[in-house]
Amino acid sequence: MYPYLFDPIKINSVEIKNRIAYPSLGLLFSYDRKLNDRYYHFFEARARGGSGLITVGPVGIDYIGSGLATIALDSDDYVPDFKHLTEIIQAEGAKAWVQLFHAGAYSHPILIDGKHPIGPSEVYSPYSKTTPKAMTIEDIQIVQNCYVNAALRAQAAGFDGIEILASAGYLITQFLSPIKNKREDDYGGNLENRLRFPLEVIQKVRKALGSDYPLTIRMAGNDFVQGSNTDNETPEIAKAYERAGIDAINVTGGWHESRVPQLPMTLPRSAYAYLAFNIKQSVSVPVMASNRIADPQTAEKIIKDGMADMVNLGRVLIADPDWPKKAFEGRADEIRPCVACSQGCTDQIFSGLPVGCIGNPQAGFEQDRKIVPIKTSKKIMVIGAGPAGLEASITAATRGFKVDLYDKENEIGGQLWIAGAPPHKQELISYIPYYKAMLKKYPISLHLNTTVDLKLIKKNKPAHIIVAEGAEPLLPPIKGLDESTVLTAWDVLKDNPFLGKQVAVIGGGAVGLETALYIATKGAITPEMLYFLFSYQAEPDDRLRELLFKGTTEVTVFEMLSKVGKDVGKSTKWILLDHLKKFHVTIITCAKVTEINNQKLFFEKNNEVLQQKFDHIVVASGSKSIQTLSSQISETKIPFQCIGDCVKPGKIGDAIHGGYLAAMRI
Ligand SMILES: Cc1cc2nc3c(=O)[nH]c(=O)nc-3n(C[C@H](O)[C@H](O)[C@H](O)COP(=O)(O)O)c2cc1C
Repeated sequence: MYPYLFDPIKINSVEIKNRIAYPSLGLLFSYDRKLNDRYYHFFEARARGGSGLITVGPVGIDYIGSGLATIALDSDDYVPDFKHLTEIIQAEGAKAWVQLFHAGAYSHPILIDGKHPIGPSEVYSPYSKTTPKAMTIEDIQIVQNCYVNAALRAQAAGFDGIEILASAGYLITQFLSPIKNKREDDYGGNLENRLRFPLEVIQKVRKALGSDYPLTIRMAGNDFVQGSNTDNETPEIAKAYERAGIDAINVTGGWHESRVPQLPMTLPRSAYAYLAFNIKQSVSVPVMASNRIADPQTAEKIIKDGMADMVNLGRVLIADPDWPKKAFEGRADEIRPCVACSQGCTDQIFSGLPVGCIGNPQAGFEQDRKIVPIKTSKKIMVIGAGPAGLEASITAATRGFKVDLYDKENEIGGQLWIAGAPPHKQELISYIPYYKAMLKKYPISLHLNTTVDLKLIKKNKPAHIIVAEGAEPLLPPIKGLDESTVLTAWDVLKDNPFLGKQVAVIGGGAVGLETALYIATKGAITPEMLYFLFSYQAEPDDRLRELLFKGTTEVTVFEMLSKVGKDVGKSTKWILLDHLKKFHVTIITCAKVTEINNQKLFFEKNNEVLQQKFDHIVVASGSKSIQTLSSQISETKIPFQCIGDCVKPGKIGDAIHGGYLAAMRI
């Protein structure tokens, strides 16, 4: 399967067995700059899964540019651990790469013992919220030497190749950017001068490593930052890199401070492959594409269509390290999807916590959460085929249990259907075909349209029961919720009922905001319509913009707290709020809804009682556990566990991880 994806490729002198690369991804598995077992097991799994190239990184070249939470190669003391890691990766048939990292002005003072970050110029960084110290010529030389020394250590540690990080807004990007680099010496000014720092780094590293050692670079295909480099300049930059001795170019999107999203579900699959192609047209060395290359068909198409020579699978390989193997063996339906939710990875990092994956309970826990097979097969019952019950079922079946899985609905998935309904959330639905494939693969009997009661349990006599009954909408104590024009967010997301022009949403948490967006987009033109109208220039651009962001409803969100989106992840909140703004959703905070009367919504704000009339009012004030069975199950005297929302409403990741752990505890 996928002959283009699995065709070997050479970078300088090194042959890579396929076109799949795992890119550098900060994991935060240690806070002492050192590798540890958690890293070893994590990378071993990714290499074993069949990727051709595994990049370890980011790896700091000095303390001020990386800090305590980044593994580092600024001392010979670290080399033996890296040697151990390269051997682990290479033993699985993958090539080991390392990404050398300097954050420059993006260094956060907390992570560098309060030291002052450095950068090309004293330009405030909205990412680290500091103004760096402008580097002197001596600083420049010191940092360049740190690159060289770290590269030599990486070579000594047995890495097959080295990547210099020159993307995402870090030090090299800062030198390249006219908005960050305000220097008036040879390192600032026109592009030729702004390129001087990175080119000197490349030349010095190349000289130290020798001509046949692979040296690659990761660059932004477009900074996506006002006033900075765009895809007009980046081909020139790439050409200069190639001339300076770079063997392959890894092209990604913009910076951390870009207001164009880089990672979430909003970003269509392979949306930034065009940036790789833009570079590929101007260089002769291999080029890699990045960002949201989620499935084998998309990856194959990028290579086959000549957009890039290799693909980076980042979060995708966190979600399923065996993606390459499964794709190669024609088992793509068994790939555990990366839904680009950012909750288990990016949001973790932003909270200073280790990376994991909401959909893969083993990610980051490769050693501790190994599947333990059972000696004698036993029968278990799992009640509820939402994410918790599904994960529990497949984990138990993988261990050797014979599983009977029940759901009262006519379809598996539970709340995934609701969670995946709002705009830009559809990736969540991709868990469903995955679980369907796994239910088929293992000895799991699925019983849909079946309400389980004690009688059925006693008749089946399972050795163990897992109850995952789920949750239902929680209705707040507001008078008038029984009016026919009042609905729950779940009703709206599940059934897409008719709604009038004026709609209120009570509750500004994640579900309330996503439901508001869902309602606000009704009637707006679809991407296909936009394509059609745009390609024929049927409407002027301004009018298209209006049609894209104007639906048939006017939505107002009422939130009691002073801010909305309290339970939305850090990395995606701004995107959701931005969408709501684009669709002109009105948000009223510090507003306590007290009553609904004849479609009038009464609310208290600033000690005043105000009212507004709506055609429909949608309640999104959380959910509560269903405990019909869990409250009686102990009567059966059969060992049982209750998991997921029926214990406490949580996020999808809580449900999936809870299901996995419950099945491991049996
Ligand atoms: C938690 C996290 C940490 C990352 N750290 C780095 C990094 O240190 N260096 C880098 O070049 N890219 C980094 N990236 C970007 C990834 O390498 C990759 O380009 C990005 O996740 C998009 O690809 P994907 O959609 O396949 O995940 C990081 C991404 C995430 C989610």
